[in-house]
Amino acid sequence: MDAIQEHGRRPRNIVLVGFMGTGKTSVSRLLADRLGYRAVDTDEEIERRAGKTIAEIFAAEGEGRFRDMETQVLRDTLAVEGQVVATGGGAVLREENRRLMLAAGWVVALMADPETLAARLARPAEAGVRPLLAGDVMERVRSLIEARKHAYDFAHCMIDTSRRTPEEIAGLLMRWMV
Ligand code: S3P
Repeated sequence: MDAIQEHGRRPRNIVLVGFMGTGKTSVSRLLADRLGYRAVDTDEEIERRAGKTIAEIFAAEGEGRFRDMETQVLRDTLAVEGQVVATGGGAVLREENRRLMLAAGWVVALMADPETLAARLARPAEAGVRPLLAGDVMERVRSLIEARKHAYDFAHCMIDTSRRTPEEIAGLLMRWMV
């Protein structure tokens, strides 16, 4: 049975995973709008709960604490249905998180080639937002892509966003659901 059949034409939730810069947040908002679902961004929820930005959490409490908060937000968020959930790029690294996502709905991995990601993430507006990219952005993107090259393989399906707009991605995902 393929993932859409297994999860129904309108999956309980749609969970977007993928490397930083693949467009999870933009696509989640568009898709939620079209489906009448709620858009949830786990990074925004972590910041809301902590009252701090992700960069501040990493600096003051370390990545381990951030990852614990991420798992707690996933547990709470995925207990509810009718959402399009944009996850942080590293949320897939914990086995528990992957299990929670797979059990909660349709997991879609957004992908892009390294050049496209590096170009998107090197934009001035993105500077300082992602602690894992501090320093030489291009170099950090390349080494993290290499370290995570199979991290998104567990998703029910994958979609290449390199030459597609968020609107096109949302449209494609809608078509897969009918
Ligand atoms: C991270 C990705 C970020 C954010 C944090 C760590 C990662 O989310 O969760 O900076 O480990 O890949 P985005 O993928 O939304 O940028």
